Amino acid sequence: MDVIESISEMREWRGGVAGSVGLVPTMGCLHDGHGHLLERARGGNDRVVMSLFVNPLQFRREAFEVYPRRLDEDLKLAEGRGVDAVFVPSVEEMYAELGGGRSRDALLDLIFSIQGGGEDRDQLEFRIDRVGDGMGYIRVPARLAMKMDGRLHPWHFDGVATVVERLLSIVEPTRSYFGQKDIQQVAILDALNDWAGGVTEIVRVPVVRESDGVSASSRLVMLSAEQRSIAAGIARLLDELAGSGEGAGVHALIERFEDGVARLETGPCELVIDSVVCVDSRTIEGVDVLTSSTAVYCAYLIDGIRLAETQWVGAAI
Ligand code: PAF
Repeated sequence: MDVIESISEMREWRGGVAGSVGLVPTMGCLHDGHGHLLERARGGNDRVVMSLFVNPLQFRREAFEVYPRRLDEDLKLAEGRGVDAVFVPSVEEMYAELGGGRSRDALLDLIFSIQGGGEDRDQLEFRIDRVGDGMGYIRVPARLAMKMDGRLHPWHFDGVATVVERLLSIVEPTRSYFGQKDIQQVAILDALNDWAGGVTEIVRVPVVRESDGVSASSRLVMLSAEQRSIAAGIARLLDELAGSGEGAGVHALIERFEDGVARLETGPCELVIDSVVCVDSRTIEGVDVLTSSTAVYCAYLIDGIRLAETQWVGAAI
C-alpha cells in the first residue's frame, strides 16, 4: 500500500493507473462503517484510494482540535481492507493557495477566520467565492445548505464541498463512496458532482449499526458507557418512528419521539436534540407524511458531543 502525502505524487500515482479507481474520503479514526465503504470500493474498482484528512474548513476550531486521530491503526486497517493508496495530505498541502508561506498555526487561524459568510448564497446554484490569496471556497446553494445540520452552520457544508471537490480533482476517481448516514452531506455531494459535470459516480453506502443499534461513527470512542446507552435510546426511538410505516403523519410522530426522549434515563448527562426531521432522501425536502423514500434524521448532543442518526422508512436508497 502506498502512503502519499503530496498532491503532485497523488496525481502521478493516478496517472499510472489505467483501470477504474474507487475513492473513499475519510477523516480517519476508521470504524466498521468505513470498513464497509472500503469493501464496496474494493469490490467495484481495479484500484482503491482512501483519503485521510481532518478538514479544518468544516470544523470549529475546538471540534477540530479534539477530533480523534490514530493514523497508525487507520493505515493498518486500510491495508487489511485491500486499499492500494492512502492519500494523507497536511493542511499546508491541501490549502497551499490559502497558505502563502504561512506557518501551520497561522494557516489554521486564517482557515477558522474565513468560515461563515455566504448569507447571500444563491438559492439554487453552487458558487465559488475567492478567499485569502484567491482560494476557491465553494458555497452550497441555500436549498441544500440552510436546513437540517446547516440551519445553524451552513459553512460546514461549504467546507465539506470545498475539500471534496479538491479530492475529486486530485484523485479523479471513477467512483466515490459516501455513507448514507450523513444524508444531507451525501445529497449535497451528489448535487456538487452534477454541478461539476458528473466527474465521478457517487455511490451511497448503507449505514452500519453496532449491536446496540447505534450507527458506527468516529465519535463513539468519545462516549462513556452512560452516554452510549443514551445514544442507543435515541437510535431505538428513531427506529420506532421510521417503523410507523408509509402514510403515517410526521407531526404526531415527532411529538411521540420527543415524549420518548423526555423519558430516556439520562442520569447526570445532558442530552440536547438539535433537530429531528423527516425528509425525502434524495432532495432532503421535508415531508408531512412518511413514504418509502423518507429518511428520518436526528442530530443531537450528549454532553456537548455531537452525534447523528438516520433511519429509513423503506429500503435505504
Ligand atoms: O464524512 C466525512 O468523513 C467528511 O465530511 C468528508 C466527506 C471526508 C470530507 O471531509
